[in-house]
Amino acid sequence: MTGTTNSYILVTGGAGYIGSHTVVELINHGYNVVIVDNLSNSSYDAVSRVEYIVKKPVPFFNVDLRDSEKLGKVFEQYDISGVIHFAALKAVGESTHIPLKYYDNNVNGTIKLLETMAAHKVKTIVFSSSATVYGDVTRFKDMIPIPEHCPNDPTNPYGKTKYVIENILHDIYNADTTWKSAILRYFNPIGAHPSGLIGEDPLGIPNNLLPYLAQVAIGRREKLSIFGNDYDSHDGTPIRDYIHVVDLAKGHIAALEYLNNVTEGAGLFREWNLGTGKGSTVFDVYHAFCKAVGHELPYEVVGRRDGDVLDLTANATRANTELKWSAEKNIDDACRDLWKWTTDNPKGYAVAGYQWTTLAGTDGDYTSRVHTVTKDDLSVSFLNYGASIQKVEFKNQNLVCGLDTLDEYKSQDIYLGATVGRYANRIANGQFEINGETVKLDKNNGENSLHGGSNGFNKQNFLGPIVKRSADEENLILQFVLVDKAGANGFPGELIAAVEYTVGNDFVEVEYSATTDASGTPVNLTNHSYWNLAGNKSTIDGTQVKLATSKALEVDPNTLIPTGNVSTLDISNLDGKVDNCLIVRESSQINTSSESLVEVLEASHPDSTLVLRVETTEPSFQLYTGDYVDIPGKFGPRCGFCVEPGRLINAVNVEKWKQLVLLDNKSTYGSRTRYSFKLKN
Ligand code: NAD
Ligand code: UFG
Repeated sequence: MTGTTNSYILVTGGAGYIGSHTVVELINHGYNVVIVDNLSNSSYDAVSRVEYIVKKPVPFFNVDLRDSEKLGKVFEQYDISGVIHFAALKAVGESTHIPLKYYDNNVNGTIKLLETMAAHKVKTIVFSSSATVYGDVTRFKDMIPIPEHCPNDPTNPYGKTKYVIENILHDIYNADTTWKSAILRYFNPIGAHPSGLIGEDPLGIPNNLLPYLAQVAIGRREKLSIFGNDYDSHDGTPIRDYIHVVDLAKGHIAALEYLNNVTEGAGLFREWNLGTGKGSTVFDVYHAFCKAVGHELPYEVVGRRDGDVLDLTANATRANTELKWSAEKNIDDACRDLWKWTTDNPKGYAVAGYQWTTLAGTDGDYTSRVHTVTKDDLSVSFLNYGASIQKVEFKNQNLVCGLDTLDEYKSQDIYLGATVGRYANRIANGQFEINGETVKLDKNNGENSLHGGSNGFNKQNFLGPIVKRSADEENLILQFVLVDKAGANGFPGELIAAVEYTVGNDFVEVEYSATTDASGTPVNLTNHSYWNLAGNKSTIDGTQVKLATSKALEVDPNTLIPTGNVSTLDISNLDGKVDNCLIVRESSQINTSSESLVEVLEASHPDSTLVLRVETTEPSFQLYTGDYVDIPGKFGPRCGFCVEPGRLINAVNVEKWKQLVLLDNKSTYGSRTRYSFKLKN
């Protein structure tokens, strides 16, 4: 049940509701996926959340299917073995007002897609059709539940576009019987991914029952209008076949595999209903959703809606037997998952106070995104690259050194604003012992390994972020994740590292967590922002500091590895060179996150009214005055100072400190650090 390793499935409309869920299932089944979507009814956030769920990058192209040139480039760039075609406009009511737009987008878009496929000898397609092609089935006796052979008679322009496209695909097959087309006629998709990370995010006032009801439950709409209770059903409301979107998504994998198993050289054109085979009334669904929410929701019965019919329930036997697929979830599951999606994302993918753009010169490059959150006087920007902090602006004063382009970030090697990992600071001789064996790491700092090696976390593109508000709606949260493969820079075991930033009125907090599949691997994560409180001056000279400790680790001046002794660092300003590890507290834990934050440093500058405070749960922190910075035309020595909370230098090679950094597959690494800002008293 897996895809082949090198080829890709092109998913058109993959940023949309059903497409995004299907991409997750495709990747979970081993397929490589490339998405094309013009984002006309969706947002890239859905794609970035899909990546977060599957923990893999998913190539994405913001392309309209009608743009054959751009679409062709995607086919040239990727070895595409098949297409799942979701991209379409889909609002029944709207289609009756702007039919031409529907025919152009849906039919013309599909023709362009098929021409491009043919030009690249791709002849496998799974097409999103709809139960709407059957029209009003009550015109027949004995056609409910609806079988695939039920004659088609769509009653609106949207449905007619589906009918026309089905016919185009049939004609193509008749002309060339090596084409393989699976026509999937969906009944009523509902629900969301159980993670609560992706779901349906309708623009404007929702047309469909459950999205509308969800907005009533969250307080965005006053009450549900029930369109008629005088139908011939057990409670007078119409009957539909509601199918959980994850079941529907899995139906596409089943169809794709069915097509893949068609005899070599032969083709196929076949329709399958994707439904549960079980009908539910509007009131059945209403009660199931109220149960998920925990209380009754306001509604009013109003007159029938134009075009609605009594019953659209699938006969799903053909899909059950031929595709060996059947729906596994029920409307209670869908309502529970929809409610989680709704409460976790009350405004869908949009989050007030958050916006993203891309770094200068990288239009359309979704791997170079800059995420900015604004909270009162504080505005903070983050990059996927290194899960870095690019900008911290408090009361209109920028407090960190940041760059403008991805190339600049890639070409510097001073960890500017970056997450440092998998192992911050030095590991002596680039090696350590574990289970009696010596593990050799990438040596990128003389004889030592520094900050995770030459290709550390600072050079990786993190996935995400998931952006949301905290439970009390006060703070903004951004969650990034990185999967660091076993063997990266020599480290044993895969490491899944999460970086969560919380931005409040006057602080940025970072929480690190990590898990591994290894029986032991060293971890030490920190942030390497260069702070400058001197009011846009190019140097930190004159910066005054209060340190919570003067206990410093003595290091050998040649190797920069601790000698085992403790020395004293008593400073009140940063006018001289500092590159020392200061000891805050005794600790023996791999996870310090539940510890209370302890203030370790306060810094200010006579030329500015602002004060920076750093608090951490970590046992120590490196204080570094940036004396080796050299980014021509941008930043020179002492442009900023770094406060890097973490574990003791080279802990993995010191018996009594080892347990601070050695993570196994039963534990979670963790720490928290908060940078807060205030005006001088
Ligand atoms: P959706 O609007 O969430 O997803 C469709 C995606 O296609 C969107 O992301 C949109 O931006 C993109 N798109 C539209 N026109 C495009 C174009 N010309 N070029 C590139 N991208 C384009 O809708 P959905 O609910 O996920 O539906 C997916 C498919 O399933 C559609 O074909 C729809 O007609 C069909 N369908 C949906 C339902 C339903 O109730 N949701 C029922 C039956 C069939
Ligand atoms: N309904 C209400 N109030 C609302 C919305 C809907 O009572 O605010 C009722 C409708 O009358 C209908 C049922 O809920 O009886 C479901 O309505 P939806 O609008 O959610 O779905 P439809 O069955 O009308 O149509 C959906 C898709 C179509 C697709 C069809 C396939 O929108 O694109 O399912 O069955 F073709």
